[in-house]
Amino acid sequence: MNTESHQKMPTPSATEDGLFSELSSVLSQYASVHKTAKVVEYENYTTLKNKLMALDSPIGSQSWAGVWATVETYLNHSVKTAHPQYFNQLWAGQSAPALVGSVIEALANTSMYTYEVAPVATVVENEMLNVFKKVLGFHSGEAQVTTGGSNSNYVALLLALHQKFPSLKQTGLHGLPKCAVFVSTEAHYSMDKASVMAGIGLESLYKIPTDQHGVMRVDELEKQIESCIAAGRIPISIVGTAGTTVRGAFDNIEALADVANRFDCWLHVDGAWGGAVAFSSKTKILLKGVERADSMTWDAHKMLGIPLMCGVLFTQHRGHFDRVCNLGDTSYIFHDSEERQDLGPYSLQCGRRVDMLKMWLEYIFYGEQGFKARIDNFMRLASIAEERIESEPTLELQSKRWINNICFRSTVCANGDLNQFNKAVREHLHKQGSSFVNIAYLGDELTVRLIITNKDVTEEDIHEFFDRWLAAASALNKRVMACE
Ligand SMILES: Cc1ncc(COP(=O)(O)O)c(C=O)c1O
Repeated sequence: MNTESHQKMPTPSATEDGLFSELSSVLSQYASVHKTAKVVEYENYTTLKNKLMALDSPIGSQSWAGVWATVETYLNHSVKTAHPQYFNQLWAGQSAPALVGSVIEALANTSMYTYEVAPVATVVENEMLNVFKKVLGFHSGEAQVTTGGSNSNYVALLLALHQKFPSLKQTGLHGLPKCAVFVSTEAHYSMDKASVMAGIGLESLYKIPTDQHGVMRVDELEKQIESCIAAGRIPISIVGTAGTTVRGAFDNIEALADVANRFDCWLHVDGAWGGAVAFSSKTKILLKGVERADSMTWDAHKMLGIPLMCGVLFTQHRGHFDRVCNLGDTSYIFHDSEERQDLGPYSLQCGRRVDMLKMWLEYIFYGEQGFKARIDNFMRLASIAEERIESEPTLELQSKRWINNICFRSTVCANGDLNQFNKAVREHLHKQGSSFVNIAYLGDELTVRLIITNKDVTEEDIHEFFDRWLAAASALNKRVMACE
């Protein structure tokens, strides 16, 4: 592996005239090393802060030297998220068409609220959302671009609350009965935040236990809803997860839809991570019943590999975004409300980035068939990782593999504390900059969560990761034994 990671910056003589050629050389130099350098040149906070503050030129000097020196430090010490040994988050990699979209979006700098200030972006966003609606089965409903999955989950909860309590818009929650929202214990923490932000409080969020594979238990859900109703609470929303953050588990959406029907409440599906399986006929089955959901969260910046952020919220209904988001005196900004070309009235923010241009460029380049191939390849690589774990006597898979989340750990450690041991192996690889994987807890057990979601990762990269893991684990065990 080439460990040369340092970004060589242009000579710090840039005038504004030469800016774009210098910028372009920065981009190409970074692109030439970021997949072969270390995953991260790790430094602690204080060292990094000192490096960043050690500018050649004083702040306010209007000298490009300080700008390029800062860019150099930034790039050298940033985590190389397109590196084939970066398995740390639910997003990874870099795709050229989408990258072009990100750069162009920054260059043209506009806001998504009105057609007159963002004409092309408005057309692009509408067309892209139509494609997604078709893929997910939300044909006749609406969709909005959000700032990400957390925001989509929050807006979905608002939609559910306003559906149940039409007076909410005027009166707020004052005088309304207490409500209840149901998620699984493995749902994303954004639902806790959403409950607080929506004003219903954490005590209204009921966490339903999961089965051994991470799926919300429908029998427990029904029991909890009944006991809430008996206590005078109104069931507002059931939130199923399609692709949980740690295990990648899929709740049974059909079953949740039946329960939602029975108790007359909203069904939201958090598919921030797993929604992308809809692109492949091999994996789409995991989303069975999603067309019965009232709303669904999906992040294109996760499994599809679009640069952050690229979040979407879908609903099967029409007019709900308008009900929750279209408020106040907007005559200074929205002038064509009759034609409904302005997207601003239907979203939570006022100013909003053009997040769909990068998605659109990726789409016209690869098409739906390209996304299908990407998803199928992740599943193939994940099954190779699973086989490798099963073939290694010192590794174990800790949970059923659903998609491209692999939860495993080393099972042999000299001092007997497996949690500490696996954590230490992971830390070692991270600080060394060789591989970057994440950890989480399944109950009391620490698990190593390997996510395969970089479209350029190969079978060899997966084996290289396990080779490194096993070597680091063995070296750590030898060190512990030598000390005893
Ligand atoms: C299932 C799930 N929902 C929601 C989110 C939040 O997404 P975002 O980071 O885009 O806010 C995540 C993030 O990992 C997630 O895994």
